[in-house]
Amino acid sequence: MRNLGVYADVAPSETSVAELAGRKGIIISGGPASVRAPGSPTVDPKVLESGTPVLGICYGHQLMAWLLGGDVVKGDHGEYGFAMLEISRPGSLFSGIDGPQQVWMSHFDTVGAPPQGFDTLAKTETCAVAAMASESRKLYAVQFHPEVAHTTSGTKILSNFLFGVCGCERDWDPAGQVAQIEQQIRDVARDRNIFFFVSGGVDSTVAYTLCLRALGQERVHGTYVDTGLMRDGETELVRENFPSLRIEDASSRFLGALAGVTGPEEKRHIIGRLFVDVQEEILRGEHYLDGRWILGQGTIYPDTIESGGTAKADLIKTHHNRVPGIQKLIEQGRIIEPLASLYKDEVRAVGRQLQLPGTLIDRHPFPGPGLAIRCLCSTECAAPERAGPGWIIPVRSVGVQGDARTYRPVLALADFPDEQEAARLINRLASVNRVVVAVQTVVPIERMMVMPAGMARERVERLRCADAIVRRLAHGFDQTIWQFPVVLIPFGAPDRSDSVVLRPIDSVDGMTARAVRMPEALLQQIAQELLRVEGIGGVFYDLTNKPPATIEWE
Ligand code: XMP
Repeated sequence: MRNLGVYADVAPSETSVAELAGRKGIIISGGPASVRAPGSPTVDPKVLESGTPVLGICYGHQLMAWLLGGDVVKGDHGEYGFAMLEISRPGSLFSGIDGPQQVWMSHFDTVGAPPQGFDTLAKTETCAVAAMASESRKLYAVQFHPEVAHTTSGTKILSNFLFGVCGCERDWDPAGQVAQIEQQIRDVARDRNIFFFVSGGVDSTVAYTLCLRALGQERVHGTYVDTGLMRDGETELVRENFPSLRIEDASSRFLGALAGVTGPEEKRHIIGRLFVDVQEEILRGEHYLDGRWILGQGTIYPDTIESGGTAKADLIKTHHNRVPGIQKLIEQGRIIEPLASLYKDEVRAVGRQLQLPGTLIDRHPFPGPGLAIRCLCSTECAAPERAGPGWIIPVRSVGVQGDARTYRPVLALADFPDEQEAARLINRLASVNRVVVAVQTVVPIERMMVMPAGMARERVERLRCADAIVRRLAHGFDQTIWQFPVVLIPFGAPDRSDSVVLRPIDSVDGMTARAVRMPEALLQQIAQELLRVEGIGGVFYDLTNKPPATIEWE
């Protein structure tokens, strides 16, 4: 809705009709439950009688039917993917939309019959009530997902609801919020100063910049902790853009603490703990804990939506909050979060309005623990084993299968299979959670070996160098995808004991992801250049979606 220029909030489904008074329209979203299951999410039924227009989407469609006495049929196998929508009655919702429409479906249950007084507006081959409405009561519902790009006329349908049914106006522009946010910062800060831990990421960078503009450099202090696990040029970039930012070089401490460590959870733990220590030292050393200072944070809207499936908790952030000093400030309300009502896209729009450079604003998400989680380790010597059409490389990485975390080896193929084949292979070989393909290797896969390796500085440098090469060469392709982890695995040949795995993915929120293929010529060019790096003996390409793999390897 906000992308369409209309301000919208997310509220829990139980929000009472009284709290929703004055809203121009309400959308009941999709969700994984079945309305027929006891205890499944519901809404205050008065919401459907208040006269405020309501649009139900997917689960919202079923819920509307269920609450108003329609028939909801339990699905056996569900329907996922594209469907063709045939519109029989356009009404307000499909106004201006002609002919069969490609829509995106993802559901188990279906509405068998709409509630009394409702008209069926559209159907698909497998879904008799794909859209329904009671125009007189201003109630509308669709089984498919108008909010995803795969539904060709989705934006038009949402616009019809917003502007045609609800009478909204296009008057929300995040970039126009800058002056107001700056005023809010002055109001909250009053005579107090603000300090920040700036990570170099989009959110903290934009939040810090807004505070600098609102209060001036004298009153806003920022510290950037260089863990030695950042990407190449990162610290320099931050330094160039924010000359007043204090840079705390803690790289020796981090790399020292990680030397010889191999377990992914152990690595995360060490990094998190050290981050806490370093922050605590800075807080105390600079007297930020006295009453003249408040803490600025780059928290954005999705972080604050408790019921929404927000991206997985960010480790460094969790630990920030655990620093006793910071916890105390939060308890005392001495915290300022200028971006707390904005989505990521909107934060970027504000950043552009502030004329922050694209190199800072349009970057991919980068995990707090940095390169450490992309530098895989091993305690043993082991050879690949023949399995099905490929080899199992005994380097274990993290995945999600079912709802559980897995830690399994990888299947390596010599050639690119088709997209479905990669998924089939994982289902067939339960012992692996990823499929990679060898792009170039200095010796055939069967002669490569897994070698014992930890987080030596030399390996972190090797990964940093590989990551920089990929970013330089893939610039352009990079901008068409969501994230591009570059991973180092301890699998190689004599004198070239590591390989690089390329993992370009597309995603909306990091919760699920699709592996993306890059142009073959570019891939070969990148592989060639990577094999020139000292110590690198192979380049692989990860073909696995999330699930069953995760985006990061760890
Ligand atoms: P996974 O690997 O779980 O990653 O599929 C999902 C998204 O989360 C990012 N990620 C993190 N971000 N701190 C962060 O700020 C972390 O500790 C962390 N771990 C994973 C990952 O890069 C991907 O975008």
